[in-house]
Amino acid sequence: MTDTMTTQERISQNDGSLPTVLMIVGSLRKQSFNRQLAEVAATTLEGKANVRMLDWKDVPIFNQDDEFPAPKPVAAARAEVAAADGLWIFTPEYNHGVPGPLQNLLDWLSRPLEDGAPAVILGKNVTVSGAGGMNCVRDAFATLIPTLNFLKMVIAPSSFTGVPLARENFMDNKLTMGKAERDAIAHQGEMLLSNIALDIQVQ
Ligand SMILES: Cc1cc2nc3c(=O)[nH]c(=O)nc-3n(C[C@H](O)[C@H](O)[C@H](O)COP(=O)(O)O)c2cc1C
Repeated sequence: MTDTMTTQERISQNDGSLPTVLMIVGSLRKQSFNRQLAEVAATTLEGKANVRMLDWKDVPIFNQDDEFPAPKPVAAARAEVAAADGLWIFTPEYNHGVPGPLQNLLDWLSRPLEDGAPAVILGKNVTVSGAGGMNCVRDAFATLIPTLNFLKMVIAPSSFTGVPLARENFMDNKLTMGKAERDAIAHQGEMLLSNIALDIQVQ
C-alpha cells in the first residue's frame, strides 16, 4: 500500500474489496459513552466496511522537540490512519470544546513524516459524532470543524450527530439511544461510505 494510490485502488487491493473505516474515540475512559457509540456505529457498517478501532492511549503529549523520530505509539497511530479510507471520530465535549487528548492526537497526525511525506490525515474522508450532556456536543463539533477544514479533510454529509446523555446514563454508564438517533448514525455511516466511493479530493 502506498500513499500515492487512490482510495479506489486501495479498496480494490484489500481482500474483500471493502473500504476500511477507522474509528477514533476521543475519550480514553474505559466506560466511555463515545466508545459505546462507536461500537453501535460499527454495527451499522457490518458487511459494508472493514472497521478498526484506533488504539491511541499511549500517544504522548505533543512536543515539537520529540517529533523525529516519531514515538512508537504515534507511528502506529499514523500507520492505521494511512491505511484507512475514512475516519469516524467520536468526540465528547470538554468545557465546550474538543477534549485536550483528542486535540493532541490530531496535532500529531497533522505533522509531516520523517521523510518529508505529507501528514497521513491530510485529505482523509471523515465524519464526526459524539455523545455528551445537554449541549449535545455542539461546541466540540464547532471547534473541530476549522481543524478538519484546515487539514483538507472531506467531511461527509450528515456529519455531527450528537447523542444526548441523560442523568440516568451517568448512573450506570450505559449509553441509551432512541430509534431516531440510531437511524441518524446509520445514515451518517452510509454518507461516509458514499464519500469514500466518490474519492473526492479537496484542493
Ligand atoms: C473536563 C470535563 C469537561 C466537561 N465539559 C463538558 C461540556 O462542556 N459539555 C458537556 O456536555 N459535557 C461536559 N463534560 C461531561 C462529559 O460529557 C461526560 O463526562 C462524558 O461522559 C464524556 O464522554 P465519555 O463518556 O465518552 O468519556 C465534561 C467532562 C469533563 C471530564
